[in-house]
Amino acid sequence: EDPRVHAIKTKIRVVPNFPKPGIMFQDITTLLLDPKAFKDTIDLFVERYKGKNISVVAGIEARGFIFGPPIALAIGAKFVPLRKPRKLPGDVIFEEYTLEYGRDRLEMHVGAVEHGDRALVVDDLIATGGTLCAAMSLLERVGAEVVECACLIELPDLQGRERLNGKPLYVLVESH
Ligand code: PRP
Ligand code: MG
Repeated sequence: EDPRVHAIKTKIRVVPNFPKPGIMFQDITTLLLDPKAFKDTIDLFVERYKGKNISVVAGIEARGFIFGPPIALAIGAKFVPLRKPRKLPGDVIFEEYTLEYGRDRLEMHVGAVEHGDRALVVDDLIATGGTLCAAMSLLERVGAEVVECACLIELPDLQGRERLNGKPLYVLVESH
Protein backbone atom coordinates (compact mmCIF):
# COMPACT_ATOMS: atom_id res chain seq x y z
CA GLU A 1 0.00 0.00 0.00
CA ASP A 2 1.18 3.52 -0.82
CA PRO A 3 2.32 5.20 2.43
CA ARG A 4 0.16 8.21 1.62
CA VAL A 5 -2.98 6.08 1.88
CA HIS A 6 -2.54 5.37 5.56
CA ALA A 7 -2.33 9.08 6.37
CA ILE A 8 -5.42 9.76 4.27
CA LYS A 9 -7.32 7.06 6.15
CA THR A 10 -6.52 8.63 9.52
CA LYS A 11 -7.95 11.96 8.31
CA ILE A 12 -11.39 10.54 7.51
CA ARG A 13 -13.59 10.99 10.57
CA VAL A 14 -16.09 8.25 11.32
CA VAL A 15 -19.20 9.60 13.03
CA PRO A 16 -21.43 6.92 14.61
CA ASN A 17 -25.21 7.24 14.31
CA PHE A 18 -25.20 10.05 11.74
CA PRO A 19 -27.47 10.97 10.02
CA LYS A 20 -29.48 8.22 11.72
CA PRO A 21 -29.00 5.45 14.28
CA GLY A 22 -26.81 2.60 13.05
CA ILE A 23 -25.05 4.55 10.29
CA MET A 24 -21.27 5.05 10.62
CA PHE A 25 -20.89 8.27 8.64
CA GLN A 26 -17.60 8.67 6.74
CA ASP A 27 -16.79 12.37 7.05
CA ILE A 28 -14.30 13.63 4.45
CA THR A 29 -14.44 17.26 5.64
CA THR A 30 -11.68 16.46 8.15
CA LEU A 31 -9.47 15.27 5.28
CA LEU A 32 -10.06 18.57 3.46
CA LEU A 33 -8.70 20.47 6.48
CA ASP A 34 -5.28 18.90 5.92
CA PRO A 35 -3.75 20.34 2.73
CA LYS A 36 -1.11 17.59 2.51
CA ALA A 37 -3.63 14.76 2.85
CA PHE A 38 -6.05 16.45 0.42
CA LYS A 39 -3.27 16.96 -2.13
CA ASP A 40 -2.03 13.38 -1.69
CA THR A 41 -5.58 12.16 -2.36
CA ILE A 42 -5.80 14.08 -5.62
CA ASP A 43 -2.25 13.09 -6.61
CA LEU A 44 -2.97 9.38 -6.14
CA PHE A 45 -5.89 9.59 -8.56
CA VAL A 46 -3.96 11.77 -11.01
CA GLU A 47 -1.02 9.34 -11.03
CA ARG A 48 -3.43 6.54 -11.88
CA TYR A 49 -5.34 8.33 -14.65
CA LYS A 50 -2.84 10.62 -16.39
CA GLY A 51 -1.90 9.33 -19.83
CA LYS A 52 -5.02 7.13 -20.01
CA ASN A 53 -6.75 9.31 -22.61
CA ILE A 54 -9.62 10.21 -20.31
CA SER A 55 -11.58 13.02 -21.95
CA VAL A 56 -14.22 13.62 -19.27
CA VAL A 57 -14.39 13.44 -15.50
CA ALA A 58 -17.99 13.11 -14.31
CA GLY A 59 -18.44 14.18 -10.68
CA ILE A 60 -21.49 13.24 -8.64
CA GLU A 61 -23.25 15.92 -6.57
CA ALA A 62 -22.37 16.84 -3.92
CA ARG A 63 -19.18 15.27 -2.64
CA GLY A 64 -17.96 14.19 -6.08
CA PHE A 65 -17.77 17.92 -6.85
CA ILE A 66 -14.94 18.28 -4.32
CA PHE A 67 -12.62 15.65 -5.77
CA GLY A 68 -13.58 15.53 -9.46
CA PRO A 69 -12.54 19.01 -10.65
CA PRO A 70 -8.92 18.98 -9.41
CA ILE A 71 -8.45 15.55 -11.02
CA ALA A 72 -9.97 16.80 -14.29
CA LEU A 73 -7.70 19.86 -14.36
CA ALA A 74 -4.58 17.82 -13.67
CA ILE A 75 -5.23 15.25 -16.39
CA GLY A 76 -6.53 17.73 -18.96
CA ALA A 77 -10.10 16.42 -19.11
CA LYS A 78 -13.39 18.32 -19.16
CA PHE A 79 -15.51 18.21 -16.01
CA VAL A 80 -19.21 17.35 -16.15
CA PRO A 81 -21.41 17.64 -13.05
CA LEU A 82 -24.02 14.93 -12.52
CA ARG A 83 -26.62 16.75 -10.48
CA LYS A 84 -29.57 16.12 -8.22
CA PRO A 85 -33.01 16.92 -9.75
CA ARG A 86 -33.97 20.36 -11.09
CA LYS A 87 -30.55 22.00 -10.71
CA LEU A 88 -29.43 22.05 -14.35
CA PRO A 89 -30.98 24.73 -16.60
CA GLY A 90 -30.53 23.05 -19.99
CA ASP A 91 -32.03 19.91 -21.51
CA VAL A 92 -31.14 16.88 -19.39
CA ILE A 93 -31.27 13.12 -19.37
CA PHE A 94 -31.80 11.44 -16.03
CA GLU A 95 -31.48 8.11 -14.23
CA GLU A 96 -33.37 7.16 -11.10
CA TYR A 97 -31.84 5.03 -8.38
CA THR A 98 -32.94 3.47 -5.13
CA LEU A 99 -32.00 4.82 -1.74
CA GLU A 100 -32.54 3.20 1.61
CA TYR A 101 -35.84 5.08 1.72
CA GLY A 102 -37.40 6.01 -1.60
CA ARG A 103 -35.75 7.06 -4.84
CA ASP A 104 -33.50 9.84 -6.07
CA ARG A 105 -32.20 10.79 -9.49
CA LEU A 106 -29.14 12.16 -11.23
CA GLU A 107 -29.34 14.49 -14.21
CA MET A 108 -26.79 15.35 -16.91
CA HIS A 109 -26.87 18.11 -19.53
CA VAL A 110 -27.52 16.87 -23.04
CA GLY A 111 -24.44 17.56 -25.18
CA ALA A 112 -21.97 17.73 -22.29
CA VAL A 113 -20.70 14.22 -23.02
CA GLU A 114 -20.44 12.90 -26.55
CA HIS A 115 -20.17 9.59 -28.33
CA GLY A 116 -16.56 8.41 -28.01
CA ASP A 117 -15.76 10.30 -24.83
CA ARG A 118 -13.68 8.28 -22.35
CA ALA A 119 -15.10 8.85 -18.89
CA LEU A 120 -13.92 8.62 -15.32
CA VAL A 121 -16.69 8.74 -12.69
CA VAL A 122 -15.65 10.33 -9.38
CA ASP A 123 -17.41 10.26 -6.03
CA ASP A 124 -16.32 10.24 -2.40
CA LEU A 125 -17.83 6.90 -1.41
CA ILE A 126 -19.50 3.73 -2.68
CA ALA A 127 -22.07 2.18 -0.36
CA THR A 128 -24.78 0.17 -2.19
CA GLY A 129 -23.43 1.25 -5.59
CA GLY A 130 -26.77 2.64 -6.77
CA THR A 131 -25.40 6.13 -7.29
CA LEU A 132 -22.44 4.97 -9.40
CA CYS A 133 -24.73 2.70 -11.46
CA ALA A 134 -26.98 5.64 -12.30
CA ALA A 135 -23.96 7.77 -13.22
CA MET A 136 -22.53 5.09 -15.52
CA SER A 137 -25.91 4.63 -17.23
CA LEU A 138 -26.10 8.34 -18.05
CA LEU A 139 -22.64 8.28 -19.62
CA GLU A 140 -23.18 5.06 -21.56
CA ARG A 141 -26.56 6.23 -22.90
CA VAL A 142 -24.83 9.06 -24.76
CA GLY A 143 -22.13 6.77 -26.13
CA ALA A 144 -19.28 7.40 -23.72
CA GLU A 145 -17.02 4.61 -22.55
CA VAL A 146 -16.72 4.44 -18.76
CA VAL A 147 -13.06 3.64 -18.16
CA GLU A 148 -13.37 3.36 -14.38
CA CYS A 149 -15.16 4.62 -11.29
CA ALA A 150 -12.97 6.18 -8.59
CA CYS A 151 -13.92 6.72 -4.95
CA LEU A 152 -12.00 7.53 -1.79
CA ILE A 153 -13.92 5.08 0.36
CA GLU A 154 -15.63 1.72 -0.15
CA LEU A 155 -17.98 0.11 2.34
CA PRO A 156 -17.32 -3.46 1.18
CA ASP A 157 -19.91 -5.00 3.51
CA LEU A 158 -22.66 -3.46 1.35
CA GLN A 159 -21.33 -5.23 -1.78
CA GLY A 160 -21.84 -2.20 -4.01
CA ARG A 161 -18.99 -3.39 -6.22
CA GLU A 162 -21.11 -6.37 -7.30
CA ARG A 163 -23.72 -3.98 -8.70
CA LEU A 164 -21.32 -2.33 -11.14
CA ASN A 165 -21.67 -5.06 -13.81
CA GLY A 166 -17.95 -5.72 -13.94
CA LYS A 167 -16.96 -2.08 -14.47
CA PRO A 168 -13.64 -1.42 -12.74
CA LEU A 169 -13.81 0.39 -9.41
CA TYR A 170 -10.74 1.95 -7.81
CA VAL A 171 -10.83 2.97 -4.14
CA LEU A 172 -8.18 4.29 -1.79
CA VAL A 173 -9.65 3.10 1.50
CA GLU A 174 -11.98 0.31 2.67
CA SER A 175 -14.12 0.91 5.71
CA HIS A 176 -15.90 -1.80 7.71
C1 PRP B 1 -23.58 9.58 -0.57
C2 PRP B 1 -22.16 9.47 -1.08
C3 PRP B 1 -22.35 8.80 -2.42
C4 PRP B 1 -23.58 7.93 -2.21
C5 PRP B 1 -23.19 6.48 -2.08
O1 PRP B 1 -24.16 10.70 -1.18
O2 PRP B 1 -21.57 10.76 -1.22
O3 PRP B 1 -22.62 9.76 -3.45
O4 PRP B 1 -24.20 8.38 -0.99
O5 PRP B 1 -24.31 5.66 -1.81
P1 PRP B 1 -24.70 4.41 -2.68
O6 PRP B 1 -23.45 3.72 -3.13
O7 PRP B 1 -25.51 3.56 -1.74
O8 PRP B 1 -25.54 4.89 -3.84
P2 PRP B 1 -25.52 11.37 -0.73
O9 PRP B 1 -26.56 11.08 -1.77
O10 PRP B 1 -25.84 10.93 0.67
O11 PRP B 1 -25.32 12.92 -0.67
P3 PRP B 1 -24.20 14.04 -0.95
O12 PRP B 1 -23.02 13.50 -1.69
O13 PRP B 1 -24.95 15.04 -1.75
O14 PRP B 1 -23.79 14.55 0.40
MG1 MG C 1 -22.83 11.73 -2.68
